Amino acid sequence: MEKKRGSFSSKMGFVLAAAGSAVGLGNIWRFPYLAAKYGGGIFLLIYLILTVTFGFTLMITEIAIGRKTGLSAVGAFQALDKRFKFVGYLACLVPFIITPYYCVIGGWVIKYFVTFLTGHVGDAASDTYFTTFTSLTGSPLLWFTIYVLLTAIVVAFGVERGIETASRVIMPILLVLIVGVTIYSITRPGAAEGVKYYLLPDFSKFSATTVLAAMGQLFYSLSLAMGIMITYGSYMKKDNPLEKSVRQIEIFDTCVAFLAGMMIVPSVFVFSGGNEEALSKGPSLMFITLPKVFDNMTLGGIIGAVFFLLVLFAALTSSISLMETNVSIVRDKFGWDRGKGTVIVGIYVLLMGAVVSLGFGPLSFIKILGFGILDFFDFVSNSVLMPIVAILTCVCIGFFVGTKTVEDEVEINGKFKIKKFYRVMVKWVAPICLVMILVFAISEALGLISV
Ligand code: PHE
Repeated sequence: MEKKRGSFSSKMGFVLAAAGSAVGLGNIWRFPYLAAKYGGGIFLLIYLILTVTFGFTLMITEIAIGRKTGLSAVGAFQALDKRFKFVGYLACLVPFIITPYYCVIGGWVIKYFVTFLTGHVGDAASDTYFTTFTSLTGSPLLWFTIYVLLTAIVVAFGVERGIETASRVIMPILLVLIVGVTIYSITRPGAAEGVKYYLLPDFSKFSATTVLAAMGQLFYSLSLAMGIMITYGSYMKKDNPLEKSVRQIEIFDTCVAFLAGMMIVPSVFVFSGGNEEALSKGPSLMFITLPKVFDNMTLGGIIGAVFFLLVLFAALTSSISLMETNVSIVRDKFGWDRGKGTVIVGIYVLLMGAVVSLGFGPLSFIKILGFGILDFFDFVSNSVLMPIVAILTCVCIGFFVGTKTVEDEVEINGKFKIKKFYRVMVKWVAPICLVMILVFAISEALGLISV
């Protein structure tokens, strides 16, 4: 078992692959719009504080569990404490729910990239382009299938040759592209006002909701509570420094989110004449508003193509981590080889994803709790299952297995600098905050509160 398991060849390889998982659509479309909505600078500040406290605690716990046991979520929890095996199953459920719909969105991104690349900027900027495209049957399915194949090919090549190589190539390019587009975007006429809007704290917008929104975002953004970091931890070599690696992953993820905001918020702000409405559109910000901004920009066609290429790269490294987690789960469970695991998971993703994709067209009559299919999957995984898994992980480590297990794993190479702080976080602060997120998200979805 141990022998067949791949591993990342180096410390940098691990950090880039984990950062590749963390940096994704969440950073590029979700973070900027939340930051704009929840008071700019104040949201950024809260987000940063939460990253180094709450995010750090959860991430180091998961990676340590993975590396210690050398197994993915189910096996790992079972090895820690049999009574918590079900947490492993819950965690596994999450990537099985997310992967199909993440790939559907990935397909849309390829479609937009191709549209800009072939010079059809004007089309992409029209009001109905997005809804017309997503409500078709064949075309979204085609792009989705291409996206799934791209992801599956990398996964099929394995940990070192596939995932690590892809991350090593993609992540640096992604960073260069983001910095380039950001510089271009903030040097457009009038952008300074938008930069101010993004960076200056608006204290009047501060509320408990801001903190909860930041916490929910952080959680998703760092790919926590779905077994991904456990799986990646299991591929990490014992001589890699855990604490430092976690810091690096967090810095990478946060920088990309921050830059994505700089890239998007000021230009949308200028384009919409300072209208905040335009910024709080959520998903449609990237697919509907942004193309209009590019259409109005000098060199917008090229910038748009580069933008969607970088979104594609970011999304791919995340979906690779999602699919890898699925594959590793079925392999651990059924003893299949990587090829068979990838093919079977690939077929599952294609079938489920097709349903999600059709949910915007022929199946759009299907509504669950008032959500469309994609939004429902998103809600169940991100707002319900992930907080539950994270709470149980903290409880398992904090009160049953003992924080020492994680601490010892971290200390295999070097001192665990903030050990005392970690103990308090994992036992008390993190679970309490997580319960709050959970209650908040469910009440919001059921319409008990409105934000
Ligand atoms: N962390 C990724 C992002 O920010 C999202 C993601 C979620 C990736 C779940 C993998 C799994 O987009």
